Amino acid sequence: MKYDFDQLIDRDTTHSTKWLKFSDPDVLPMWIADMDFLCPPEVTNPMIERVNQGIFGYTDTPVSLTKLFFEHVHKTIGWKIEEDWIVWVPGGVVGLNISCKTVLAPGDIALVPSPIYPPFTEAPENMERGFVKTFLKDINGRLEFDVKEIKELLSDDTKMLYLCNPQNPGGTVFTNRELEDLSALCQENDIIVCSDEIHADLILDDNLKHTPYASLNSYAQENSITIMGPCKTFNLAGFPIAAAIIPNEELREDFERNSKGIVAHIDTMAFVAAEAAYRSANEWKSELIEYLKTNKTLLSNRINDIEGLSLCGPEAGFLAWIDCRQSNLDSPVKFFVEEAKVGVHGGEFFGNEQYVRLNFGCPRSILEEAISRIEKAFSQRK
Ligand SMILES: Cc1ncc(COP(=O)(O)O)c(C=O)c1O
Repeated sequence: MKYDFDQLIDRDTTHSTKWLKFSDPDVLPMWIADMDFLCPPEVTNPMIERVNQGIFGYTDTPVSLTKLFFEHVHKTIGWKIEEDWIVWVPGGVVGLNISCKTVLAPGDIALVPSPIYPPFTEAPENMERGFVKTFLKDINGRLEFDVKEIKELLSDDTKMLYLCNPQNPGGTVFTNRELEDLSALCQENDIIVCSDEIHADLILDDNLKHTPYASLNSYAQENSITIMGPCKTFNLAGFPIAAAIIPNEELREDFERNSKGIVAHIDTMAFVAAEAAYRSANEWKSELIEYLKTNKTLLSNRINDIEGLSLCGPEAGFLAWIDCRQSNLDSPVKFFVEEAKVGVHGGEFFGNEQYVRLNFGCPRSILEEAISRIEKAFSQRK
């Protein structure tokens, strides 16, 4: 390996949200979705050069960034987008909120699959729009849509479906077939899909491939907003930058109009980081995926040996959705944090308190320490 993902980096002095969360210094933080790896030097070196230049100021979207991103999507995902379709926004969550404001009029409803990363349910609340949850089914550890339930939930007011693919927290990479079923349903009911595909670059199973929802057919293309970006792929979380891909010109103009005056400029350093990442960090990304695959195997093998716990995925990303339903714990998150001293994210945050989400995007020695603590705590359980 050219890059050292085993390296331990002290983040205590950086105001890291992840590392500041737990007041007990013995708790290993493994919750929020940023990774404890150095960013690729191919990204940090151009950033250092830009800082050394010393003037920042308002910055136009670099044409070269749009071109690099467009090539990245084509080469790595196989989706042929057009440069005109891309609207840069300061972050994926901003994209979810603008989409909601754009697609839904007051009184309209978004369908939100749960469990899910909370900004999906917060966006309709922020925008004073309605939402209805559809519950994903856990099929042998894989979260899947319940199309029958979705059909029952649809009303004349349902105008948007939020999709998160790969799914957070479950890590499902939805198949063509699953997406086609959704697309057929959306076409029958005039529904626009806002598809957050921010984890799409990190597929961990060689037999799986990411299918962008919008690439399925012309209806899906013309009736969708896809959110992608560099923040998970290159460990640039915290930088306000993501791409909204909107093929339909009218929808794209509405989206841009709804951003005006509310959405901040994308900052200069985020542009520099994103451009450098898409230009030169592909080899880093490939090595990251191999490292994450080994971490995932290590974690799932040992978690599945613990009575009461089970872990099947994730098929993509670095977040493990651990099923604690058989553990008979009143509060799995409390047990993980207080007894095992492993700072996982409580499942209730996403919509199911019988699960915990563990971030394994960390050096292997940290992961091994966390697993040993979990094993010990469960073995000593009274
Ligand atoms: C599915 C998904 N979308 C969006 C985000 C956040 O994106 P951003 O930080 O660019 O707002 C996350 C972060 O965990 C995520 O998992």
